[in-house]
Amino acid sequence: MIPIFRPWFGEEEVEAVREVLLSGWVGPGTKVEEFEQKFSEYVGAEHAVSLNSCSAALFLGLKALNVEGGEVITTSLTFVASNHAILQNDATPVFCDIDLETLNIDPKSIEANITPQTKAILVVHFAGHPCDMDAIGAIAQKHGLPVVEDAAHAVGARYKGKMIGGISHISCFSFDARKNLSTCDGGMLTTNDDDIAKRVKRLRWMGISKGTYDRFRKKGLEKRWEYEIDEVGYKCYMNDLNAAIGLAQLSKIEAANAQRRETFLQYGHAFADLEWLQAPVVRENVRSGMHAYVARVPDRDGLIAHLADHEIDAGVHYKPCHLFNVYEPYRRELPVTDSVWPQLVTLPLFPSMTEDNVQQVIGAVTGFQPNGSAAF
Ligand SMILES: Cc1ncc(COP(=O)(O)O)c(C=O)c1O
Repeated sequence: MIPIFRPWFGEEEVEAVREVLLSGWVGPGTKVEEFEQKFSEYVGAEHAVSLNSCSAALFLGLKALNVEGGEVITTSLTFVASNHAILQNDATPVFCDIDLETLNIDPKSIEANITPQTKAILVVHFAGHPCDMDAIGAIAQKHGLPVVEDAAHAVGARYKGKMIGGISHISCFSFDARKNLSTCDGGMLTTNDDDIAKRVKRLRWMGISKGTYDRFRKKGLEKRWEYEIDEVGYKCYMNDLNAAIGLAQLSKIEAANAQRRETFLQYGHAFADLEWLQAPVVRENVRSGMHAYVARVPDRDGLIAHLADHEIDAGVHYKPCHLFNVYEPYRRELPVTDSVWPQLVTLPLFPSMTEDNVQQVIGAVTGFQPNGSAAF
């Protein structure tokens, strides 16, 4: 079976893990500091705060913005982690509709849904394609609102030449098993705001003012056992094992994303004449992270079954959040989201795909006979 995604770990990651395991320090330490430093340089942000997931980055990022009791503008077409972070903060998700081509939140819908209760705007770079950040930034500025970017899919993506991660108040990255850059599990919050970085660093470890590594391994500290706690925090930090894997992955991310781009373009070329398939767009002035190849197909379920017969996995990203029971109180009509999601299908895309794999997917897709109307 060709999977939708396969991790691409090599000898570098194995050696990095070995070094940390034998070093005598596997908690958060030098590898975490180095990974944060290199990641902040990579995306061009003042601060990178490593965490154990993007879910934690979203939760703590919104917490640092004090959204509790208010409304957060968001998209429904995303993994539930984006919107659970709003509910976990005792805030109200206000679902906006999406742009039919990019499947990203539609700036016009953001503007229409801002109220005096709005505390933040959360946007998701769907499948790695950057949102329209100029339009979103202008709306945010006009209303004095912070922007949180869910960049789980967008490591290495660029918007008008700027790296995703250095643009808004807060950006949240995922390094879980399926992401472009994986630490097996992990996440990173990037920001240019000193106070947000400081607060999230405390919140990631019980609210404690100084990390264990700082207290015990750095020289010149008196009373190393002493620390202060001003608010209740959580246990969400990254450890040196995951950070060491992250450093190895970071050194290869541009090459891996280039590999994804090549497969993306091959698919686009091969599917160009299929009337019943709409390939994902890449707008001018952006470089997508190309995390996933999400096409539109009216007979989506037929295609998934056909691909399974050809030993190829295909997926659905996503069933929109507002359709889950837990989001029933926040449900509303979202004409584009509601009409497009039953047509979405995710095809295999990962850097270690062989030319044979790619041709097998192309052959199976182009050989499909859709049932019923091919109209969109
Ligand atoms: C859009 C989006 N946001 C957030 C997350 C959560 O990431 P993590 O698994 O690192 O918590 C995911 C993970 O799949 C995601 O796809």
